[in-house]
Amino acid sequence: MDLKLSDKVVFITGSGGGLGQKFALDFAAEGAKVIVNDINARGIEQTVDLIKQAGGQAMPGLCDITALAAVKDAVKKAETAYGRIDILINNAAVQFAQVPFIETRPEDCDREIQVSLYGTLHCSRAVLPGMIERKFGKIINIVTDAARAGQEREVNYSSAKGGVISFTKSIAREVGQHNINVNAISPAATNSPMRAEALRRLQEKIGEQKLQEREEKIRRVYPMRRIGEPEDVSNTVLFLASDLSRHITGQVLSVNGGFIMPG
Ligand SMILES: NC(=O)c1ccc[n+]([C@@H]2O[C@H](COP(=O)([O-])OP(=O)(O)OC[C@H]3O[C@@H](n4cnc5c(N)ncnc54)[C@H](O)[C@@H]3O)[C@@H](O)[C@H]2O)c1
Repeated sequence: MDLKLSDKVVFITGSGGGLGQKFALDFAAEGAKVIVNDINARGIEQTVDLIKQAGGQAMPGLCDITALAAVKDAVKKAETAYGRIDILINNAAVQFAQVPFIETRPEDCDREIQVSLYGTLHCSRAVLPGMIERKFGKIINIVTDAARAGQEREVNYSSAKGGVISFTKSIAREVGQHNINVNAISPAATNSPMRAEALRRLQEKIGEQKLQEREEKIRRVYPMRRIGEPEDVSNTVLFLASDLSRHITGQVLSVNGGFIMPG
């Protein structure tokens, strides 16, 4: 099926690795022009190279999304190069030590909120004027089921993502009249470098055997009996970026193998 993304320009935060890189490759394969944002310059280079080797179009969008001036600058450069931004994927996030809330460091909490929540606000603030002017836009925010269901030892991270969920709904109400859809995708556990790093830290703490037992237990909690893969999330991102979903806005869609089923 042609998703009609071939003339679209998409800005993807945190696409120098992990799920964001998969989104970038998939949009490019659909013919979209991709701005690869990250703070990791090597990661950006890798994603841009992979896209170009496959015959796609991409440019780097290096900036720390917690700094509004830097975001505005990156968006301006992208609009100059590609003419506009049609689609924004707010994907970048950080997650620090998974320990009880009272043991977390306030500075880590600040950073988690800065990247997930302020990063999303800053990028949206930078692209929305152009989208409103052109009366077209899609914003897709990547959140987490940890925010929808609650998750011990992920209190700061899930609080930041809870803010992104509220932002999704409120801004969708404001900008729907301009033909702009804003939605959130809520993955549960998905194999990515972020998850691999969390597992590595856990393995150091509890050892390989206990880790594997825990992984098996986790799989049993999922009705589909599997952990998500990057393409599971990416396919949903493509759907929400396409006109197939033009009547969907302000929604939070879990991509989670049935882990939770919010009403
Ligand atoms: N992997 C999972 O199990 C899982 C589950 C639920 C939700 N998610 C969400 O999916 C999204 C992607 O997660 P992932 O697993 O690919 O993570 P990841 O850590 O692999 O990738 C995140 C990317 O964001 C970049 N980044 C961090 N801070 C930044 C900043 N200030 N400015 C620009 N870029 C920055 C990092 O360099 C990295 O490339 C996140 O929003 C995460 O919360 C992931």
